[in-house]
Amino acid sequence: VKIPLIVGNWKMHKTPAESSVYIQQLKKYISSSRANVMLAVPFIDICACVESVKGSLIRIGAQNVHEKDFGAYTGEISTSMLESAGATFVLIGHSERRQYFGETDEMVNRKLLKVLQSSLTPIVCFGESLSDREAGKEKDVVISQIQAALDGVSGDFLPQIVLAYEPVWAIGTGMVATPEIAENVHGLVRSYLSQQFSPTVAQSVKILYGGSVKSEHMVSLMAQKNIDGVLVGGACLDPEAFSKLINY
Ligand code: 13P
Repeated sequence: VKIPLIVGNWKMHKTPAESSVYIQQLKKYISSSRANVMLAVPFIDICACVESVKGSLIRIGAQNVHEKDFGAYTGEISTSMLESAGATFVLIGHSERRQYFGETDEMVNRKLLKVLQSSLTPIVCFGESLSDREAGKEKDVVISQIQAALDGVSGDFLPQIVLAYEPVWAIGTGMVATPEIAENVHGLVRSYLSQQFSPTVAQSVKILYGGSVKSEHMVSLMAQKNIDGVLVGGACLDPEAFSKLINY
């Protein structure tokens, strides 16, 4: 039986006080769930969230991290700061970071290499734009993003890495990818990893789907062989709605 990994991404929503109320409610609604549930929250909410999830299996992480250990990088946060706040994972290269904050494949790679030196689990996001897909280039784009992100990463580290396929055209648009479209890309990535590393390594990597996921999509998405879980934006903001998705 597949135990799904369900990651909620709050993006730029919720204050520390609101975080605590949310988590108390979520804990109540999902107390009997078998899913692995994680929440990627704003930096300023991490401590409050870590405190609130005590006694549950929910894990708390960040939405971004800097590639250096410390220094004169105003406004940035390091892996050791995240660890000491109690975060256990971090998103890297979310398409909104790429689109609005100029993150490149090279930055994603440097961040990943840094995170692999820490105890944090990296969730590396990738996915093509609508124009890439319309031009029939989605496979090339996706593979070149994965190749660039994993540059210099040894196969020994692969089992610790989570990948998240988030086609840009599906994020926040209500246009969820069909299970077939998602499975196609996930299968492609899995066979690429199998060639580059080994079939065993490729099987050990969790690949999540993200982009307009709601509770009603869970059964068909999770039935796909290469979909190990989901990365959820809008549908995780309300604890009751998110619990329906988790308890699908
Ligand atoms: P939506 O679920 O709101 O489309 O957001 C997806 C996403 O970007 C999660 O990281």
